Amino acid sequence: MAVEDYTQPVLPGEGASDYERYLRTDDLLALQKRPDDQVHRDELLFQTVHQASELWLKLSWAEAEEATRLIEHGELPAAQRLLRRAVLALQYVISQLDMLEQMSPWEYQTIRKALGHGSGFDSPGFREIRRVAPQLGQAFSALLRERSLDVVELYRSGREHEELYQLAELLIGWDEQVTLWRMRHYLVVARVIGDEVVGTQGTPVELLGGLIKQRFYPELWRARNRLTELANEED
Ligand code: HEM
Repeated sequence: MAVEDYTQPVLPGEGASDYERYLRTDDLLALQKRPDDQVHRDELLFQTVHQASELWLKLSWAEAEEATRLIEHGELPAAQRLLRRAVLALQYVISQLDMLEQMSPWEYQTIRKALGHGSGFDSPGFREIRRVAPQLGQAFSALLRERSLDVVELYRSGREHEELYQLAELLIGWDEQVTLWRMRHYLVVARVIGDEVVGTQGTPVELLGGLIKQRFYPELWRARNRLTELANEED
């Protein structure tokens, strides 16, 4: 019997090993500026954080989009599993922002000049999150309608609608991560370029602070107010 030679790649494609072929590491690692093209060596840090963030954002919205489809087909536990991933992916995007604060604010001004009109408003990952979030909300609302429930009733129903309760908590959890990201991003921006300046696309940083109030699922947040009111009325 022929002994398999594990040192040789078997997958098609470029790259010396199957690891490099499967992950396309040659392409991936060529996506950052080479030292000769950099205006500052911290461009590697800056590009790494942004590119890695785009990948986690992609995973987050893709899982949320598939979760929407599963909810529409009544597969609620499977949807929950994917929404847990969507939440976790955003936590990674948030924690990576710490790395940007390792840049000197003065040295960052050199990098900034190389960004053109590049702005996070054009982030494909964030744009996709904004696209899929309302669809997820609609799928959830349709479920509530099917069971003739509103959000407040759901929260007051104990364990009677446990799967829906878990879903509601995942939706608000995902929404909360987006808000936490906006809060953290705002502070990073303020710490790096200041909070009384305009961005590379002409947006006043102050306006970013205002966006922190935006919510994908306001009815889930409002329900908390109502629960507090109801509890107060009982007293
Ligand atoms: C030094 C680091 C950073 C600075 C100074 C910065 C600065 C800014 C500024 C000034 C804006 C307002 C739009 C403009 O005029 O450009 C903005 C928006 C935005 N940035 Fe950043 N940013 C940084 C890092 C990041 C990272 C790592 C991401 C990850 C993807 C990101 C994603 C976004 C998004 C999605 C928006 C739109 C915000 C929203 O819709 O709430 N930024 N950024």
